Amino acid sequence: MSESQLWDDVDDYFTTHLARDDDALEAALRDSDAAGLPRIHVSATQGKLLRLLAEIQGARYILEIGTLGGYSTIWLARALPGDGHLVSLEHSAKHAEVAVRNIARAGLDRQVEVRVGPALESLPKLADENPPPFDLVFIDADKVNNPHYLEWALRLTRTGSLIVLDNVVRGGRVADPAETADDVRGTRAAIEMIGGHPRLSGTAIQTVGSKGYDGFALARVRA
Ligand code: SAH
Ligand code: DHB
Ligand code: MG
Repeated sequence: MSESQLWDDVDDYFTTHLARDDDALEAALRDSDAAGLPRIHVSATQGKLLRLLAEIQGARYILEIGTLGGYSTIWLARALPGDGHLVSLEHSAKHAEVAVRNIARAGLDRQVEVRVGPALESLPKLADENPPPFDLVFIDADKVNNPHYLEWALRLTRTGSLIVLDNVVRGGRVADPAETADDVRGTRAAIEMIGGHPRLSGTAIQTVGSKGYDGFALARVRA
């Protein structure tokens, strides 16, 4: 058995018992596929982790950068209390349209707002509205802008907020000295920023599973 087949099988086992997709999540993936969206959403076990992290945070306000078809959005929004709110930023109007339908079918349209446009344009607009500080920020868009997204996340959060950065390993490319691609540079800059920033305390964890070999970083905003 290949290593990645083994990772798939174990992820399937954990998913079956711990993170099974319900009708709304299944339909979200089906319609994302049908619309031709890339299959780069978080896995079910990762989605469940996002939900748990938001619940542990007691999150009332969540910011997501990179909506795609709304799969991670649905997992995150399910952690919210009735008066909670999630803002998700998505560049592609097509992705956002699919996401809005998926989110509505999950019964979360009252709590979730998808804003279309490049996140680096949406973020200053959002800041101008003086929103309450976000309790959790999930950064999962174009990796080249990760350091900018991290800067904005710092501006839009409070002491104790949690920032989650997806795809920080990319098959090991992050630590390959020969690798100079923009997305890897962006991720390295974000990792090094977390390591050196007086207001951030963070770590990064490598993962295997149905999404291959990758990982995520967690950073807590401190005083
Ligand atoms: N969080 C999603 C996956 C997001 S994939 C999930 O796990 O279900 C990355 C998304 O970021 C894509 O939909 C892509 O269109 C979007 N994106 C890329 N560049 C962007 C930008 N500059 N601003 C906002 N979104 C962007
Ligand atoms: C890619 C982006 C993601 O957010 C992800 O989880 C996996 C892959 C990508 O751009 O290839
Ligand atoms: Mg991702």
